[in-house]
Amino acid sequence: MNAHATAHPEHDMLSALINNVESADDAMAKATQSTVLTPRFYTTDYDAMDRLDVSPLRAEWDAMMAEYEGDNNHDHFQRDAAFAEEAREGMARLSPELRQEFLDFLISSCTSEFSGCILYNEIQKRITNPDIKALMRFMARDESRHAGFINSALRDFGLGIDLGGLKRNKAYTFFKPKYIFYATYLSEKIGYARYITIFRHLEKHPDKRFHPIFRWFERWCNDEFRHGESFALIMRAQPHLLRGLNLWWIRFFTLAVYATMFVRDHTRPLLHEAMGFDSTEYDYAVFRLTSEIAAQVFPVELDIDHPVFRAGLESLLSRSIAHARAKQQGGPLGLAKQAWHAAGAAATFVRLLLLPVRRRPLPAQVRVQPVW
Ligand SMILES: [Fe+2]
Ligand SMILES: [Fe+2]
Repeated sequence: MNAHATAHPEHDMLSALINNVESADDAMAKATQSTVLTPRFYTTDYDAMDRLDVSPLRAEWDAMMAEYEGDNNHDHFQRDAAFAEEAREGMARLSPELRQEFLDFLISSCTSEFSGCILYNEIQKRITNPDIKALMRFMARDESRHAGFINSALRDFGLGIDLGGLKRNKAYTFFKPKYIFYATYLSEKIGYARYITIFRHLEKHPDKRFHPIFRWFERWCNDEFRHGESFALIMRAQPHLLRGLNLWWIRFFTLAVYATMFVRDHTRPLLHEAMGFDSTEYDYAVFRLTSEIAAQVFPVELDIDHPVFRAGLESLLSRSIAHARAKQQGGPLGLAKQAWHAAGAAATFVRLLLLPVRRRPLPAQVRVQPVW
């Protein structure tokens, strides 16, 4: 089912990409969905994970593990007494369209937190390498808290997701470890950048904070930041992952993560508007911060200010909308249009991948602090 016509023409156009959620079954269906734009679940080569060696960066590794051990967020993911009431009041003020966008945001965030939880937990169960096993156990612990916390916000509306069922029923994508490192590093750091950008903004504009969950984002995103640090150390300990042809994989994953985020976020224009953001400005602020942090590990940086880059993301967005419309239309003509827009999007993606990148030398000290 699609959002009905609204007074907001942009939203009407973009809502072709969002399905409404009215029941727990709808929420579950949305979480289970596998498309180019929805969060995925992953499996990997566990034996290769077992063989990883972090000893070249032992001192930085041990300092990081001590932080996990200290668990400074152990008491953070508990709701305070005001939570439920604040959530009820805030949601009552939202238009039905904005409510749908916020639910879409909660469901996709919960799914992607849980995706990390499953992957880290599976790795941890299947390996004996003490460094990686301990790391994966800590990260699974954090992601399980994150997913559970979002799910409790969904449960307030009777839309909680059956995470056990999701684990059994959602499709899994196999990624070689190096792809896991590039993709997961980026998604942890971009997760940090997204959460901290929202938190800092709402700190200045508390009247725009329509749901209490945003109050949790600051300490929450420090977990994501540290998860990203772990993958940075793993990659820096295997320098071959960061040179030669692998630079193309770094470019590929960075572009894929940015493009997906751009299209996804523009399906929720009202959500950003309600927080006082423009979706495009918000996304570029997040890309900029992510690129800055990624200097610790990626020796190439996409030129996000290149006019072709900016135009290319806009084009991927309109292709996605046209593709969703063609899918709605159905029939042979709808199918032909879908193929046409998919091919157009692929051509644009390749064009963006071939744009010149900025090179930068890797710093001797890998770790950075979450100071934003
Ligand atoms: Fe998380
Ligand atoms: Fe994380």
